Amino acid sequence: MSPRAIITGTGRAIPPKVVTNFDLEKLMNTTDEWIQQRSGIRERHWAEDGVGSSDLAAEASLKAIAAAGIDKSEIDFIVAATIAPDHYFPGIGVMVQAKLGLGTIGALDIRNQCSGFIYALSVADQYIRTGTYKKVLVCAAEVQSHNLDLSDAGRDMAVLFGDGGAAVILEPNPADDGRGVLSTHLFSDGRFMRDLWMEAPASGRKPTFGPSFLDERKYFPHMDGKNVFKNASERMPEAVLQALAANGLAVADVDLLIPHQANDRISQMVAKKLQIPLEKVGRNIERYGNTTAASIPIVLDEMVQEGRLKRGACLVLTSFGSGFTWASAVIRW
Ligand SMILES: CC(C)(COP(=O)(O)OP(=O)(O)OC[C@H]1O[C@@H](n2cnc3c(N)ncnc32)[C@H](O)[C@@H]1OP(=O)(O)O)[C@@H](O)C(=O)NCCC(=O)NCCS
Repeated sequence: MSPRAIITGTGRAIPPKVVTNFDLEKLMNTTDEWIQQRSGIRERHWAEDGVGSSDLAAEASLKAIAAAGIDKSEIDFIVAATIAPDHYFPGIGVMVQAKLGLGTIGALDIRNQCSGFIYALSVADQYIRTGTYKKVLVCAAEVQSHNLDLSDAGRDMAVLFGDGGAAVILEPNPADDGRGVLSTHLFSDGRFMRDLWMEAPASGRKPTFGPSFLDERKYFPHMDGKNVFKNASERMPEAVLQALAANGLAVADVDLLIPHQANDRISQMVAKKLQIPLEKVGRNIERYGNTTAASIPIVLDEMVQEGRLKRGACLVLTSFGSGFTWASAVIRW
């Protein structure tokens, strides 16, 4: 039997600077009331100039490594997810490898936006199951605040997103006790890529950075909020039900559901559709905003620290985001 992958350590890295809805009121035509009513967000964290996603990923990774009680030299593979890499290329995986001073191990970058963490987890899980790697670092980090349109034109996006990073360590479960990642389900529908995207820089455009690049402002993320909302609140419950069915589990078996923190109204709708009581749903968007790939592992780390996950608990993750991509995972903790 191939071993199951267990999460042996978690960590998070949150930039210290807090930006409240009232702070945003001073930058654009918005109100605390509008933001809270539509999204449930009160505040988010913004990284200082000079701090990139790889810095948050590296900081969170060190914490996850410490929590797992291993030496960083034991890490034998890195999977890193972000939509906001420090540079156009290379991705942040190699930057984490170098910042942590690891050996010349493989570093894979995942570009699946808000589903990035579950996609990354899925890849790492396959490596553990096949016995290829024994200690895989999965990290996700986002510094989005440095490229938000803070004018009124960009207020729909600007108020939702925040910065943060988190990481987990995956190792094979040495015991045959049923614990570990039971399944991951990944989905995409690229027909809707324009409903949540950053159009430029675009490699198909020659020259990529032409004279009109700055004027066109296509380097700011753009979203059709209503369609994202509609699809997110349908796809996440579907993905959860599919995951539970694949494992012979029922909704009542779920001890903790952590949905991607896109918008608290979406999380509440997902819970309602699944008929999962809100006490069993991990929610922290109020304090962080939407941290894209990092949102699920940030909640996970908080839940671990709060002692919310007992050994053997059924943990379900689900995400939806740009692509569209969506995903689910079931973990026996
Ligand atoms: C963005 C979102 C909060 C908007 O909520 P909504 O109820 O759909 O609001 P609407 O789009 O109908 O906008 C209502 C009005 O508020 C305005 N508005 C948009 N952003 C605003 C802001 N930050 N402050 C104040 N008003 C704002 C709009 O311009 C619109 O004005 P109009 O009626 O004069 O045109 C919501 O669509 C959403 O959460 N979508 C999903 C977002 C998401 O999860 N993205 C990431 C997915 S991973």
